[in-house]
Amino acid sequence: MNIVIATSEAVPFAKTGGLADVTTALAKALQELGHDVSLFLPYYQQKQSTGAAAEFPLTSTGFDLSIPIGGKTRGGRVLRTELPDSDVGVYLIDQPLYFDRPELYTENNVDYQDNCERFVFFSRAVLEAARMLDLRPDVVHANDWQTGLIPALLKLEYSKTAEFAQTGSVLTIHNLAFQGQFWHWDMLLTGLDWKHFNWKEMEFYGHLNLLKTGIAFSDYITTVSPTYAQEIQGEANGAGLDSVLTHCADRLVGILNGVDMSQWNPKIDPHLAQNYDSATAADGKPACKAALQERMGLPQRAETPVLGMVSRMADQKGFDIIAGCIDDILAQDLQLVFLGTGDAKYEDYLTQLAAKYPDKVAVTVGFNEALAHQIEAGSDMYLMPSRFEPCGLNQMYSLVYGTVPIVRAVGGLADSVVDATPENLRSGTANGFSFVDYRPEALASALQRALDAYKDRQQWRQLVTNGMSADWSWQNSARRYVDVYRQAIQRQGLMTA
Ligand code: ADP
Ligand code: GLC
Repeated sequence: MNIVIATSEAVPFAKTGGLADVTTALAKALQELGHDVSLFLPYYQQKQSTGAAAEFPLTSTGFDLSIPIGGKTRGGRVLRTELPDSDVGVYLIDQPLYFDRPELYTENNVDYQDNCERFVFFSRAVLEAARMLDLRPDVVHANDWQTGLIPALLKLEYSKTAEFAQTGSVLTIHNLAFQGQFWHWDMLLTGLDWKHFNWKEMEFYGHLNLLKTGIAFSDYITTVSPTYAQEIQGEANGAGLDSVLTHCADRLVGILNGVDMSQWNPKIDPHLAQNYDSATAADGKPACKAALQERMGLPQRAETPVLGMVSRMADQKGFDIIAGCIDDILAQDLQLVFLGTGDAKYEDYLTQLAAKYPDKVAVTVGFNEALAHQIEAGSDMYLMPSRFEPCGLNQMYSLVYGTVPIVRAVGGLADSVVDATPENLRSGTANGFSFVDYRPEALASALQRALDAYKDRQQWRQLVTNGMSADWSWQNSARRYVDVYRQAIQRQGLMTA
């Protein structure tokens, strides 16, 4: 199958969160299954602070773009490279005016005011480049609001051309909290007829909504875990789009993300003080823990449990309930290690906490790929008390690294972490600790259970082994995407027949 994946982030080129890990890993897994994959993303010129590859070989395709946008025409270049250690073709859309910026979407936590224009341009550029390159995709896979316009452009414009007449479209929702909402006049940027500015297609309470646009026009919709696929069809987690999503339940499915074992694997991870696997974890993890304590300026105490967290500092991630029970937490013999960047209120709170408890709390504000890996390896436990979590990758990385996750049982966290209840321990399935209520007391009690279990060395070893032995590789999920692509193509055919 000929597959085009469009995304605003992909490792190692640009990353603010899990989307970047997922698009790259999926592209590689699909290629390994024998499909032909082309990945499109903006060329950000590698100047931003967030997880950018320093250098990679780049060639020109020789194609120059001329994209109509809001009554004007904007040029651009199509550059080519490959995903490292694979032959997945990567096409970078180069337009410095839009993408040569310090960050991907925001500056000082404020959205760029022309984000709509930037990503409408990118969405059009992807299809135009695919046409010029004569890729003739069987399916175009868009991701999140940044590429939400693509399914609409395919259906309303490109499907009328021979090259795209049979092309199906899939939209993956990685996070319903970000919808790409803009004022109604930005409809002019899309170049689509005002008649599509209606509540069933592109309009949402008077605004242009690019994620809703993608939902309305794609042949198939996926999200990143089965539980989240259910949750978003209810009012509490539907972010205003629950009735829209319920309406398309027959073309909506949740596929759990996997782990890219070439990137997140303690056996070969180049960032670690010592590599290890399940058989050597008893030796390797203490070495990584000591190195982490040293790097973070914490006392090197082997017996003291270290709790790690690597996260965007956002309301989604549960920092408020951590703050709500921090006194209980810090009354215990433990160390907390945080790495993250985002909302100033959480950055400040955690920085002050570290200043107040220098022997117990260490915080690094910023984006640091190496440190993220070192925290996964060097911690005993991993905290992920999210308010909501479409999939979540760090709890799976934690399992792979033998770090026991403590999570709220929502979204993909519920689909990957099995609580250490007596029954689950007996059946050998337990791999972490989870709680249901979004309250500080519920988090504190799950943490207490984890600390008690940590003292029981045999039980702890069992939890670590259970986590490390699971298979999170992408092959299974990639096969499910292929099924979805087939259904999208079939559905597209039925619609145009
Ligand atoms: P989300 O996409 O909601 O941020 P995920 O758990 O899916 O959450 O993925 C987060 C990804 O981003 C992980 O790979 C994590 O290690 C990485 N990450 C988040 N914050 C940082 C940071 N400050 N430095 C390095 N990596 C980070
Ligand atoms: C989003 C979600 C996260 C998910 C990631 C990759 O950023 O917040 O839960 O793992 O996308 O799909």
